[in-house]
Order: sequence, then structure tokens, then C-alpha cells
Amino acid sequence: MIFYFSGNGNTRHAALELGRQLDLAVHELSPAELLHPDTVTLHTNEPIVIWAFPTYSWGVPPVVARLMKHVHLDDTMTAATHIMLTTCGDDMGYTDRQWRRIMHRRGLKTGGAYAVIMPNTYTLMKGFDVDSPALAKEKLKASASRIEAIVADIRRTAEHLDGSTPAYTDMPVRLGWSWAKSGIVYPWFVRFAMSPRPFHSNEGCISCCKCARECPMANIEMIDGRPQWGKHCALCLRCYHACPRHAVAYSTATSGKGQYLCPLK
Ligand SMILES: Cc1cc2nc3c(=O)[nH]c(=O)nc-3n(C[C@H](O)[C@H](O)[C@H](O)COP(=O)(O)O)c2cc1C
Ligand code: SF4
Ligand code: SF4
Repeated sequence: MIFYFSGNGNTRHAALELGRQLDLAVHELSPAELLHPDTVTLHTNEPIVIWAFPTYSWGVPPVVARLMKHVHLDDTMTAATHIMLTTCGDDMGYTDRQWRRIMHRRGLKTGGAYAVIMPNTYTLMKGFDVDSPALAKEKLKASASRIEAIVADIRRTAEHLDGSTPAYTDMPVRLGWSWAKSGIVYPWFVRFAMSPRPFHSNEGCISCCKCARECPMANIEMIDGRPQWGKHCALCLRCYHACPRHAVAYSTATSGKGQYLCPLK
């Protein structure tokens, strides 16, 4: 079973590919599950569970971390081997350690932690923008062989679930200073840099409702033909990237920045 959260389609693509190649069921975490994890019980028909999510500030997206901590797990879930798949622009830091800690605190058995480099989606700070089309294309092309390598490793894990051989090999993507990025910047980012308050639509808005329709947290309401952002934002940026008029802005931080949605089906 693969449970995934995806803002702009990168993780969705990776999760669907893994599901197709490993013949596993794939489930997108819904707004109701993400908002009220303590009212939800997860179940799997397979001995392997893959948690798939993008890397946010060298860590697990807070909405996903909260779900993994508080969701009810039935016996099939507690008996399964749990695996992590993250997609990132170029550096996951110690996202895997954070994920593994959550799993182990719940008494769950873990297998490999894997990362796939995909095009960057973060545009909300100075110096951060989407990749050039050429770099995005290159990353998407390279992601196919990375996913194949991950599939091969998970197959090995599946063949040795009895623990007969240490079967998996983590495949992280780290650029250095991970302790500072994940240990210092991540908590700061979660506390001070994830507010949806700076979101607004500008005069280019044509009231098409796409931002509201596509928000994976159901956090946008249309009022008088314009989007209004609520408080339950994952900062996934789908509203920003999916707007057909590039009319979603985050204070002035997004001015002159590009848009990106994963083109892979
Ligand atoms: C809030 C936020 C924080 C991010 N932080 C990181 C990061 O720390 N390292 C990184 O390599 N990419 C980072 N990214 C880029 C995404 O992890 C990457 O583009 C990912 O593939 C997006 O997946 P998605 O399309 O499923 O949302 C960040 C993106 C967002 C929106
Ligand atoms: S997607 Fe863009 S154009 Fe459509 S309602 Fe939202 S802000 Fe307006
Ligand atoms: S409001 Fe925008 S950034 Fe926040 S969760 Fe919804 S789509 Fe993502």
C-alpha cells in the first residue's frame, strides 16, 4: 500500500510509478485524513507500506508528520514493513531520520528510505525559484532510473520480510550540513515561515476556482469570485503553481517567479 501527499504532482508521479511497478495499491491522503488524522484508521492488504511525500525544509511536511503520528493503524498496518519515499529539489537533509523516529515511536518496523530528485517547487523566499525548463526536464528524465533502482531495492526487501537478510539500502540525497538544515532550520521554518496569511490573488484572477478546487487541504474558499485562504495550509503551493493566470501571489516574495506542475502522467 502506498499512502501519498503531493502538492504539485512530483510525489504523485513517483508514488504511482512505484505502485504500478510493484503492483501496490496507491492512496492519496485526503483533506479529511490530513486534517483529522485521529478520526481515521488506515488499513493495508499488502505487507509493505510506503509513505510518500515531498521534502519541506529538509524535513517531513508537518501535515504528513502529524498524520503519521496520530492516525489509527489497524493490525495489518502494525504488522507491515514501512518504507519512506520523498521527492526533493536537491537535498532532503535528515528527512529520513525524522520519518524513522516517528515510525519507531509507534513501534513500526522500517525498511528503506528513498529520495528522488525532481523539479523544485519552492518559490517563497529570496533566491528560491522553479528550475529552468531544461533543468526540470533533465531531473524528470533522471528520476525514471532512480525510481527503477528504488523498485529493485523494495523488491529485495519484500523477498526478505522474515528478516533473513538485511535487505534494503537507503538511497538518500544530501548536500551536507544536514544536522543544521533539519535540526535548526526545519523547526524554525515550521514555526515562522509556513503561514498562509501572505497568500492573495492579484488583478489577473478570472475567478476560475481552480486554486480552490485543487487545494489538497480544502483550504481555499471562493468569496465574491476571489480565493480566500484559510488557516489549514500545508504550504504545498499547488494554488500558486496551478493558477492558469499566474494570479496567486505570496506577499511580494513570488513576484517574477515561475510556475511548475509535474507534466508526467
Ligand atoms: C514548502 C516547501 C519546502 C521545500 N523544501 C525543500 C527542501 O528542503 N529541499 C529540497 O530539495 N526541496 C524542497 N522543496 C521542493 C520539493 O520538495 C520538491 O519540488 C518536491 O518534488 C515537490 O513535490 P510535489 O510536486 O509532490 O509537491 C520544497 C518545496 C516546498 C513547497
Ligand atoms: S486559479 Fe487563479 S484565476 Fe483561478 S480563481 Fe484561483 S487565483 Fe483566480
Ligand atoms: S492553500 Fe495553497 S499552498 Fe495551502 S494547502 Fe492549499 S493549495 Fe497548498
